[in-house]
Formats: sequence, C-alpha cells, structure tokens
Amino acid sequence: MPDGQETISKTLVFFVNGKKIEDERIDPEWTLLFYLRKKLRLCGTKLGCGEGGCGACTVMVSRYSVRTGKLFHYSVNACLALVASMHGLAVTTVEGIGSTRTGLHAVQERIARAHGSQCGFCTPGMVMSMYTLLRNDPVPAMTQIDEYMTGNLCRCTGYRPIVDAFRSFTSDGRQAPPGCGRKDCCQLNGKTANGTLNGTDEVLPLYEESDISAALHDEADFKPYDPSQEIIFPPELKVCKEWQLQELEFSGPRVKFYRPLTLSRLLQLKSLHPEAKIIVGNTEVGVEVRFKHKLYPVLINPSQISQLTSVTISDSGLTLGASVTLSSLEDALKNQIKSQPEHRTRVFSALLEMLRWFAGKQIRNAAAIGGNIMTGSPISDLVPLLMSSGATLTLASLERGERQIPLDQNFFVGYRRNTALPDEILLNVHIPYTHKDEYILGYKQARRRDDDIAIVNAGIRVIFENGSNTVQRLDLAFGGMAPTTIMATTTMKSLVGMKWDDSLLETGSNLLLKDLDLHPSAPGGMVEYRRALTLSFFFKFYLSVRGRLSEKLLNGIQPLTEEEQRIIELHHDEMLESMQIFQKVPHGQSQLDPIGRPIVHVSALKQATGEAIYVDDIPYCESELYAAFVFSERAHAKIISVDESEAVKIDGVERFFCARDVPGDRNVIGSCLDEEVFVSEKVTCVGQPIGIVVAKDQATAQMAAKRVRVLYEDIKPIIVTTQDAKREKSFYGKYPLRQGEPESALRTSDHIIEGEMHVGGQEHFYLETNTCLVVPKVEDGEIEVFASSQYLTGLQTFIAKVLDIPLSRINCRVKRVGGGFGGKITRNINVALPLCVAASHMQRPVRVMLNRDEDMTTTGGRNPFLCNWKAGFSKDGLLSALEVEVYANGGHSRDYTRHVTRRLMLNFDNAYRCANISITGFVCKTNLPSNTAFRAFGAPQGILFMENIISTIASFLKVDPNFVRERNMYATGDKTLCSMTLELCTIRQCWNEVLEKGRYQARRIHVDKFNRTNRHKKRGLSAVPIKYGQGYEAHFHMKGGALVHVYTDGSVLISHGGVEIGQGLHTKMIQVASRVLRIPMEKIYIAETGVDKVPNTVATAASTATDLNGMAVKDACEKIMARLEPFMALNPKGSWEDWVKTADHERVSLSATGFYKAPDVSSFDIVKKEGRPYNYHVFGAAVSEVEIDCLTGNHSVLQTDIVMDIGETLNPAIDIGQIEGAFAQGLGYVTLEELCYSPEGVMLTRGPSTYKIPSFHDIPRKLNVSLLRGSANPRAVYSSKGIGEPPLLLAASVFYAIKDAISSARADAGLDGVFRLDSPATAERIRMACPDFITRKIKSPEPGSFKPWCLKM
Ligand SMILES: Cc1cc2nc3c(=O)[nH]c(=O)nc-3n(C[C@H](O)[C@H](O)[C@H](O)COP(=O)(O)OP(=O)(O)OC[C@H]3O[C@@H](n4cnc5c(N)ncnc54)[C@H](O)[C@@H]3O)c2cc1C
Ligand code: FES
Ligand code: FES
Repeated sequence: MPDGQETISKTLVFFVNGKKIEDERIDPEWTLLFYLRKKLRLCGTKLGCGEGGCGACTVMVSRYSVRTGKLFHYSVNACLALVASMHGLAVTTVEGIGSTRTGLHAVQERIARAHGSQCGFCTPGMVMSMYTLLRNDPVPAMTQIDEYMTGNLCRCTGYRPIVDAFRSFTSDGRQAPPGCGRKDCCQLNGKTANGTLNGTDEVLPLYEESDISAALHDEADFKPYDPSQEIIFPPELKVCKEWQLQELEFSGPRVKFYRPLTLSRLLQLKSLHPEAKIIVGNTEVGVEVRFKHKLYPVLINPSQISQLTSVTISDSGLTLGASVTLSSLEDALKNQIKSQPEHRTRVFSALLEMLRWFAGKQIRNAAAIGGNIMTGSPISDLVPLLMSSGATLTLASLERGERQIPLDQNFFVGYRRNTALPDEILLNVHIPYTHKDEYILGYKQARRRDDDIAIVNAGIRVIFENGSNTVQRLDLAFGGMAPTTIMATTTMKSLVGMKWDDSLLETGSNLLLKDLDLHPSAPGGMVEYRRALTLSFFFKFYLSVRGRLSEKLLNGIQPLTEEEQRIIELHHDEMLESMQIFQKVPHGQSQLDPIGRPIVHVSALKQATGEAIYVDDIPYCESELYAAFVFSERAHAKIISVDESEAVKIDGVERFFCARDVPGDRNVIGSCLDEEVFVSEKVTCVGQPIGIVVAKDQATAQMAAKRVRVLYEDIKPIIVTTQDAKREKSFYGKYPLRQGEPESALRTSDHIIEGEMHVGGQEHFYLETNTCLVVPKVEDGEIEVFASSQYLTGLQTFIAKVLDIPLSRINCRVKRVGGGFGGKITRNINVALPLCVAASHMQRPVRVMLNRDEDMTTTGGRNPFLCNWKAGFSKDGLLSALEVEVYANGGHSRDYTRHVTRRLMLNFDNAYRCANISITGFVCKTNLPSNTAFRAFGAPQGILFMENIISTIASFLKVDPNFVRERNMYATGDKTLCSMTLELCTIRQCWNEVLEKGRYQARRIHVDKFNRTNRHKKRGLSAVPIKYGQGYEAHFHMKGGALVHVYTDGSVLISHGGVEIGQGLHTKMIQVASRVLRIPMEKIYIAETGVDKVPNTVATAASTATDLNGMAVKDACEKIMARLEPFMALNPKGSWEDWVKTADHERVSLSATGFYKAPDVSSFDIVKKEGRPYNYHVFGAAVSEVEIDCLTGNHSVLQTDIVMDIGETLNPAIDIGQIEGAFAQGLGYVTLEELCYSPEGVMLTRGPSTYKIPSFHDIPRKLNVSLLRGSANPRAVYSSKGIGEPPLLLAASVFYAIKDAISSARADAGLDGVFRLDSPATAERIRMACPDFITRKIKSPEPGSFKPWCLKM
C-alpha cells in the first residue's frame, strides 16, 4: 500500500444502531461513550466509572472480516474505546435493540420482568453484555453467562434476579421448581411432614400450601426469543470494503491519531514519532489519560496490520501478533489444547486458566497481549507465565529491522519501563510448546476473584531430567513483589539437581523468602501477606507437580491425598441456585388490587431500554456551562494562595469561583454548620472543594481545573485513623448510654472477658456518581436544580442560605437517582452548592457529573468504628453486663456521625437482653472526608461488635455460639436498650425457621467433618438473628407528604415526598393509590419528585419512605375517594372515568394533598431514657456457610438462608429484591470492601480497580429468602414494614462463618480459643489469621519501625 497522503482518509465512518455516521471533525481524544452520549445523544449507555471497571457503558461492536468473510460481535467498554478506532465497524447500543415504543428485545423484557433492574443505572450495560452473548450463541450455557457478565457490576440487586432473567435463555440453567417436590416440603411451608420443627417440640402454625408462592415472575410470560429477528449487520459494511482498507489520520487540538495499513508504515510512523502510543484496546492508556491526566499527542492504531493480528502455529509453538486481543488469544489457546497432545499444551492451559481471572469480558475483547507486555505493569497477569515459559519477543524498527529477545527479567528495567527502544514496536510473542517432562502453572491472588488486578501472581515452570523427578530447570516468575515482574533467580539455580520431594519444598520456600524480600513500607502494602502468597503458590505448585509425577508412577512419589487434591483444585463456581418464598395475597383479593403482588418496578422496562432519564441524561440547555472542581490535595493545611491565572487563560474557560465569591456566613454550610461551600483558609481533608472552573465543556473545565495552583502550608498532626484520634483525643463529642448497674454486675459475673475490634468503612459506590444541573431562571432570582439527591429539601434549604434567596424561589427536582444508599443525603449538597453559586452569578445553566475518583475522594462513606468491650456472663452463657466504648471515625466535619453513633449504641443489643450495659460513644474528628449516612446507619457496625461478643463468649465457654444466642434472645414484652417494649417480636420465629430451612444442625455436623479432614481448606457456618429499630430517631422527621391530581380523562398524577433511588418507592406508591382509588396501576403516574409539589420533605432514607409517603398518598387518595363517593352512589354502574368527569363537572376538586405523621414517636433522651425513637422493629435471621482457602485467603459463600419478618409485604418482588440487594451490599462490607488511605490522608482506593464491591460470583451459590408468614405491623401502611436497610445486617452471618472457618484452621495449628478478626474479612486477613508452616517463616516487622504504605479504614 503506498504511503502517499492521497490514500489517507480523514473522515470517520461507522454505524451506530444501523445508522451511518460520517464525521470529519473527530477529536482522537473522544471516547466512544462521549460520542454516543454527547454527540449522538444516545444516553442509554451510562458512565459509571470511566475505567472499564463497572460495565455500565457496555455496547456491542460488530466487525466483518474481509479476509475470512466472518462476522464478529463483541462487547466493549465504551468509556475506554476511542471513537476513532470504530472506523468501518458497527456499534449497537441499548437503544438499538428495542424500546418501549417500538418493541422490547427479549433481554430487555426479561431483565425487567424478572426484577433485575432496581435503580437501573447498570441495566443497559447488563443488557448489552447479555445481548452480545446471544448474538454469538442464541442458546448459551450458564458458564457462558458467567463469562460474559464478569465485567458488569450492580450495586442494588445482589445479582440473583439478573441471573434468573438470563438463565431463561440457556440450555442448562433453568431452575427446577422450588422445594423437594413433596407436597409438605419444609422449605416451602416451614414445617416438617409432622408439623413440628426438626429437633424441637415447637409446633408451627399450619399454612395452607396454596398460600405460599415461590414465583416472583413467570417465565411463561416472557415472549420467546427469536434470533432470526435480530437487527442485521449494516450490509454496506460488508459490501463496501474500503473502510477496512483505508489508512486513517485524525487530528484534534492536542492529539493526532493514525491507523496505518502496513507494517512498514507503522514503523515509519513510530520512527517519526518515537513518543507515540500504540493503541489497541486503550485499556491501559485510556485509564492513564483519564485518571493520571496524561497527554499522549500521537496515537497509532495497528489493528489493520496482519503481522500484528495473526496467530501462527509452528513446530516450536505459537506465535501471537502483538495486537491479538485476549479473547482471540483464548480462542487460539482452546484450539491448540483441543488439537495437540496434552503435554505440548500445558503452557496454553496455564495461560487459559489465567485469562479466566483476567479483567472482564469487555476488557478481554478489546485489550491485546502486546499492550499487556509493553505496559510492563508489575502485576501483569500474562508476563509471569510468559517469562517462566521461555517466551520470546520480536521487536521491529524501521532503521534496524527485527530482533528477537527473550522475555525474561532483563526485559523490564524499572516500573513500567522495558528495553525496547523508542522507535521499536513489539511485533509478536512466541510461546514454545511444553514437553513431557515439563510442567507449568500460573497463580493469581486478588482482592476479589473476578475481574480484579492481582496482589501477587506467579508463573512457575519445572523441567525434569528425562523421565525422572530430578530438576533440570526451574523458572519462578512473580508479579506484585517488586516494581517489575521478577524471577527468583537464586532459588531457581539452587534447586536444580534436587529431587522433587519435601526437602525441595522446604529449601525452595526458605530461598524464595530471601529472593522475594519486601520492605515493610513497600508500595501496595500487605507485605507479610504478599510474602506468604509466594510460598503458598510454590507449595501449591509443588503438590500439583508431585501429583502429576505420581501419575507417572515414579518411584517414591506419593500420590496426592484427597486433602492435597483439594488444595490444588482450580476454583470453579457452582451454578447459582435460589429460592424466594412469600405468602400469596388472601383468597378473594380483587385482581385489580396490586397490594401484596410481585409487581414489576414501574420504570424497569425503560431502564432496560435506556429510555429512563437520569440527571446527566437531561438534554443540554441553551448556553450551558460545565463545572470542574478544584479539590484540596492536602489533609491538613493552611491555604497560602489560590492562583487561577493559568486556568482562566484557556480558551473556553468562563470563570473560576472560590470562597471569595461567597461572602461571610453564606459560605458556611453542613448539617452542623461546620463546613464551607469553598474552603476559605484551612483545608482539613483531601477532597474539599476549594473552587470550581466553569467552561464551555467538560474537557476544557477539567483541564483548566488542573491548572489552578494552590499553595499550602502543612499543619500537624494529620489524624487518619480512629486510633490516631483516640491517641490525640480528637473528638467532636462523647455520648454515654447506661442501663442497670454494669459495674457491680461485672463484679458479680462468673466470667469477664474483654476485647477490641475494628470495623472498617464502606464506600457507597452507587453506580451513578453525584450529578447536578442548575438552571437559573430569568425572573426574581428563581433557580431550578436537578440533582441526584436523596434529600431535596435539605438541598433547597442550603441553596437558600448560600444564595440568600427565599426557599420559594428554588425548585429542586429529580426523576430518579442511580443509587444512593445514604450517600446522597448531605454529601450531594456539597456538590450542588458550588454550581448554584456559579449558575446564579453567570446566569447560565451549569452542570457537573463527578468522575468516580472525585466522587470517592470527596463524599465520604460509612464510618469506621473501633470498639473496646468488656462482658460479664454466667457459666451457662447468660449475659449479665457489658461495658463498651465505641469510637467513630467522623472525618473532617460532624455531618451525621453523632447520629450514626447513637444508632449504633441504641441498636447495640441486637437481638439480646442484657440488663446492665454502659456504652460510651466517641465521635472522632479526623482529617478524612466527612463520613455520613449509609444504609442501616451505624447498626451494621453495632451488630458486628455484638456478635463478636457473643461468639467470643461461646468460644470461651466452648459451646456453639447459637447456644449463647438463644440463651439471651429477646422476646415480645422485653425492653430494649432504648427502653422500647418489643411488640410482636418475631426474632425467635425467624431464628427457628431459618435454622430449620437452612438445616443448621445437619450442616454443622457436615462442616465439622469436612474440617477434620482438611488442613488448608476450611468451612465455617454461622447463624445470626437481627432486630432493627425502624424509623428516624428524630421524631420530627417522621412525616410524609403527597399531592394527588385526578384529571378529567381519569388519569392520575401522584407527587410525594420520596425520591426513587431504585428501591421501588414509586411502584409501591402507585400500588397504594391503586388500592385506594380502585383503578388499575396503569392509570396512575409519577413524573418526578419536586419541592414545588410536595414541600418540606424529609430525606429518603432510614427505610421510612414507603411508611411515611405511603400513608400520605393513601390519605390524599382517600380524600379524593370521599369526594367521589356521592357520584359513585348516584351511578353505581358507572366507570371511574364517568365519576371523575361528573365530579369535575360539578366543580368538585379532584386534587388533594395528603399528609402523615407517625404517631407516638418521640426522640430518645439518652440521659433520661425517655422517648420512643423507633416506630417499630424489623426482625430476621440468616444462616451462612463459607469455605476458605487458608493458603490464599480466598473465600466462597456456599449457601445463605434468610428469613425476614417484614410484616405483610406490599410487593414481594421489590421487598425480596431489597433483602437480597442489602445482603449483597453487607456481604461486600464484611468481606471485600476495604478503604485504604496513605498516612498523609490521601485515599488510595478511588475506583473499581482498587475498591471491590461484590460481583456476580461473590454472592452465595445457594441463596434462599423467605418472608415470615403471618406477620403483621399495625404501625405502617397496609401492615407492611420498611425493608431497605435491615437485611444488610444479616451479612454478619458471613463474617462469623468465616471466623468459624478460621478458628478450625487455628485449632489445627494448636491455637485454640479466642482470637481477633477485624472487619472486613479480606483475603489478606483470612490468610494471615490462619497460621501454618508458611506464616511461621515470615517475621513481622516491629510496629513503629517503619512507615506503612497505607492505613486500612
Ligand atoms: C478494568 C481493567 C481491568 C484490567 N484487568 C487486568 C488484569 O486482570 N490483569 C492484567 O494483567 N491487566 C489488566 N488490565 C490492564 C490491561 O487491560 C492490559 O494490560 C491489556 O492487555 C492492555 O492492552 P491494550 O491493548 O488495551 O493496551 P493499550 O492501552 O492499547 O496500550 C498499552 C501500552 O502498550 C503499548 N503497546 C501496545 N501495543 C504495542 C506494540 N505492538 N508495540 C509497542 N508498544 C505497544 C502502548 O504504546 C501503550 O503504552 C486491566 C485494565 C482495566 C482497564
Ligand atoms: S463506565 Fe465504562 S466500565 Fe464503568
Ligand atoms: S440496579 Fe444495578 S446498580 Fe442499581
């Protein structure tokens, strides 16, 4: 192909949803997501993280290969793919496959109807991942769903309903009908065949079998999937091959993009631009550009160069072009494994297994092997295996041609640096076949098993002398142990010539420790764990090879025992099984009446098609500006100066706003008036807003914000942890709570034990980051604010203060929020106010959507807590006294921490009586972002502490913890810690039922048996009951409001005070209205929440929104019905429309407000112990079983059974969805989610790459949820109970099951009894709590003798 300019195209041509796009003004910096959302206004594809970690931006890309005539469909992350690289391709977005107007695609319909969409922000991405799978295989297997969904996160649902929706497409995934098939199945009706609970004399109330349902949806309602109806690939792209055969050159203001067609042209370009980046997947470079703000002026895309995309098989092995994507690599490896003798492909099997744990499907579809190698990341997953396999690289340059070099430790010369010269490119990688005496395996340990980067990984190979077990060569390559992948060279050399036996293992382990030393302050932290992992991997490899050698019947080689076999077993998840059991509506309930039925979330279909609008989807307003924040970068410092001069010079920047623009008291905000809109003098944490730049667009604003120079003068000390605060006595306040006489009760107790436990923080990780659009109105200072807020009145109040205008001129509105979990109550206000200042000043609309890292850095999360406790108890486990101190890490402002601490204290008792308690809560002031409300508000920390006390007592007494639990369990009539008398207390019913359904006793025996025969794999089982005080503790918040309009066509518009954050609130409100008005739900509509319709609202939080607003909606509807009664009486056979029309004609108002205040609640006086802080209680219980790998710290939740008393459910689908979603969030909280800060107070876990929320495979493999039958609640709408928060507490069962498993490992190591386990039980904590021959070799550094790399929060 000639290199002449005339063949070069400068116009991008591609197809989106079948429509041809031709664009001559492509900026190479634009991602596909930006182009779809901002240029084409296809807002169905969402931005959740911008770093390939959440899957919200998933789209399908289709490519027709001119060479093979084949069509390929693959999912990609539009947030990383460059639009420039879409030339000649077809992109399909969620809008392209179906809509509520034109007809839904089966995937969209099924995820919605199976209740797999709550806030809906993840849903388009889920849909597109599944859609891509179906385009490749119309009847997939469940394993393919597992594979395709690994790159998609959901924070709301707990994944179960999504799996249920998608399994309906599979050949092997359809669930068997629930229960065992017997009519009297105890799973379904809660009783054994003889009507008693197993092992007890307690007779359960008998239920009619027909009262119970286990079907939240009916697959028979799904319309059949017809692959022949799929949209066709644009024929033009097949016919017209020129687009694939065109060289491209796009120029933007800062970056040039080339797509050469030949190798020589590529080398020529690289010679001309040695600094150029070679872009294939852009999965490394895209992240660097977005989060490290790197600018690469020249990008070269080599996707059309056959030498780089080909896979060649030769006698010596496999040669892979550098641009071969990881998915293509998987295919090539599978083909080889199928077609070659086993011994030749051992290296391919090892690579394939490694690829299973490499990122998500979308990343693997885009990313290439060359990018992985050339990036030189010390935690690359492929490099250790390639290094140990003897792979070679071919590098090429224009000047010097090709050269081959081994991929060994000499290739990497420093962190992300290698020996390739600037004008060289990587042409290919050659991987040699293995032979009969050669074994190779890869290992990877990450925080989360799926889609996570490694903490440590390894590639280990051994070659034996012909037919023997004498080591001829050993290769040990490790990632995560140095700034580059390294080889343990001394160990490798020293073991040559040794026999493969236990002495080799011992010598090798000791040498490895020396080879792979790590300084205690090494970047990445977890030093002892990382060192232990290297030995664990070596041990596993040793066993695996011993097993293989023993198969060859070599003399003296012991075959692996069953236990050893388990140690080396590869992890394969079981298929998810689940059951959801609830009571059907009573016989005779009108078909029209939706209360109690599993009604689909009213927005679910729109969420599944991308039609649902979130704040950033609102179309541009005329003259709109974009804002970018300048956040503080120091944790504690005086601001010396703020210089915006370089920023405002940038073309397109309109202005910079800071404290100077908000005079005096107007700048003071925060729920305790201890924060500022813009920091004026002193920063007290990283992430405080110092200013904002407003500019013509996002890119300009963000670029300019980076140019604002802030000079600081550091102030000491920087207080990061609760322990620091305790030491420095840095407190906002101290709050005591007392009951009985704990001191004297302790003195007279049979036993006293004491302990300490730390429970970490948690990031909300709502999929939609904080977003706001402020639109000033022309007249009288009116302002309209669209905010992803859970608390519109709170926002409105502060806008009024900051802008000094009356509340009546401010309208705060929101249609829906993409997840809140408490994080968008107060912290959203701090994001919105700076925009209000700018918009009001500029008299132009201003918008912002925080980047994920900004959101995580600035908004705070769940409060970490430290607890010191002393418990007195009798010989038979009766709790007599508790003395407790809890320390909350509040952050740099008070926000809600005092209330969170109070809730923790008032709920500390959980399900247990204790007559004598003293709890002192300390609210610590630290230099962290202000921690805030988070689902269940202090209660999760409290339950973890209380259950720790219970399990420690059990451990001390050497009894089953359930014995201690039952011994102390509350019953109806007991008084709780906050002096409330428990009414209709069903703890014991939930408890008994869950033990029965979860077959606790039988499984205990099984777990103990398993543990007796396994040393390095352990199982654990735990049951936990919960009691949760429902409602706002501040009684003045216990109110709801509604406004109902009935129009003359009979349609109804409801407004109420709650915000739809995914919890199905609007659906339930429509159900309530439908019952009262006796009309179908379809006639009722909720448009949005706005303070102009229902004023003076409370935050949508504390699981109260249904209780409070539901009653208000009922009230308003009843008023309207009362006005219609006379017309109904006059015309009893008339229709709703007739009555409405007549009433209107008779000048009767068909609009009514509704209001509700919860009766008999009053704030609790902690000193006088007076008041009723909670409206009622929610009860429940769960049993969880886990398995841990003591060598790596990995865990799997094998089964969880949950029984919840939620009164009479308004909507079992939504309620069970809340239970499962909250449980999954709690599971993440107690196992995976760990916040890390540098000692300087800088958050290190700022996105999905470093902060791990649960993914598809983290939820229990068996998950059974039952709603307790026959329960009632006179204190909420239609006898229901609020459900959003309490089930999160049930995840404590997983934590204590893990602790149970660890205790077995410790017993095997001779360590019986009590031990400390802080939460979360991460892989690191689990592994390091299981002492063995490996951990004994690793010396812990003296505390205080080094500066830790990170502090765990
Ligand atoms: C969400 C997410 C998850 C990830 N998970 C993992 C994981 O589990 N394990 C893991 O190892 N990595 C992981 N990564 C890192 C990344 O995906 C891989 O390193 C990937 O293989 C990079 O390929 P790419 O084509 O996208 O590289 P690009 O970003 O396109 O390029 C990366 C670098 O390689 C250079 N380069 C590319 N090709 C050549 C060539 N032919 N010659 C010279 N230089 C070249 C480029 O100049 C650039 O500097 C993850 C990344 C993300 C975003
Ligand atoms: S937005 Fe693209 S993966 Fe999260
Ligand atoms: S429904 Fe999945 S993130 Fe909200």
